[in-house]
Amino acid sequence: MPDPKSQLYRDLAVQLGALLEGESDPVANAANMAALVWRGLPHLNWAGFYFRQGAELVLGPFQGKPACVRIPLGQGVCGAAAAQGRSVVVPDVHDFPGHIACDPNSRSELVVPLVEDGAVLAVLDLDSPVLARFDEADRDGCEQLAALFVAHHRRSARADAGDIDPESGCRLPLPRREDLDAEGRRAYDRLAAPNGGTLRGLHGPGGIQLHSPELSRRSRPVNQYLRYEAGLGGRVRELAILATAREHDAQFEWAAHEPAALAEGISPEIIDTIRCGGDIARLSEADAIVIALAREIFAARRVSPQTYAGALDQFGPRQLVDLVALMGNYASTAALLTAFAMRLDEGQPPPLPRLFFPGR
Ligand code: SME
Repeated sequence: MPDPKSQLYRDLAVQLGALLEGESDPVANAANMAALVWRGLPHLNWAGFYFRQGAELVLGPFQGKPACVRIPLGQGVCGAAAAQGRSVVVPDVHDFPGHIACDPNSRSELVVPLVEDGAVLAVLDLDSPVLARFDEADRDGCEQLAALFVAHHRRSARADAGDIDPESGCRLPLPRREDLDAEGRRAYDRLAAPNGGTLRGLHGPGGIQLHSPELSRRSRPVNQYLRYEAGLGGRVRELAILATAREHDAQFEWAAHEPAALAEGISPEIIDTIRCGGDIARLSEADAIVIALAREIFAARRVSPQTYAGALDQFGPRQLVDLVALMGNYASTAALLTAFAMRLDEGQPPPLPRLFFPGR
């Protein structure tokens, strides 16, 4: 006879699958999953999510009493599970150093991380007023539910993989030199040359753009001006490009520019702050303003008076216009990469983790 607890989790998995079916919104799905677990598992006083935002966990959909909103990675049971990327079962919360008591009635806790490609996206947190409420069967069962949730969102993000040209890695074939006019052939040769001024040559946005040779011809000088002649400098340029790529989930653009950012002396810590949508308060004012500007333009869709004033002070009107135009230039590239579904190179893991709450 099957163990009743594993049968319960199998039933919950079937119900979760049905709830997720056809819906791609992660917040809506997390809300339903929290309600499902809350109603399906006995002896809980809290069930819900914390989403990772940089070096913090931020409260997501849940059932139970109001809870603390932000938990730094590494703190509490949730922060420990997120930092270690593995589930934590706490039989008695009083024995867990640093346990964060949102509800004094909580006696035991289970936290399961939601992991995609090695990155912790969120944690599922269950609290119980009963001592030692959670055992290995609960951990296994909740890990399966968490894996189902992650797999569902991965599937919906990649549902369109069937129309990719294997040679170009995107929906359009590589441009063919013989199909182009004299101007187009010059652009083709420039792109095909090892140091042709683009990071990925024909494999990437340059190759996509060349399907419209006139666009390719007109946009190159603008891109070159914004990158190299506007006087923004390499550090600002690559910060702006990475922040723009992050806000557009532009994996290919990010992958091409992360090495360029490192080469400009931008530290791996700063790059990770941009990658994970982390807190920029600890960065230098000069770096923070560039990242804030990109986040506010593309995510908040409104630039605050403080960010605007700081950016104007740092760059002056002419360079600020150029900096914003540079971001727009790479947003345009991100649009091409998205529409034509540019794939990363074979075997390359996606460098940008999913941000459940990109709007901040
Ligand atoms: N107890 C958790 C904090 C979150 S609440 O339980 C909802 C912890 O120690 O991380």
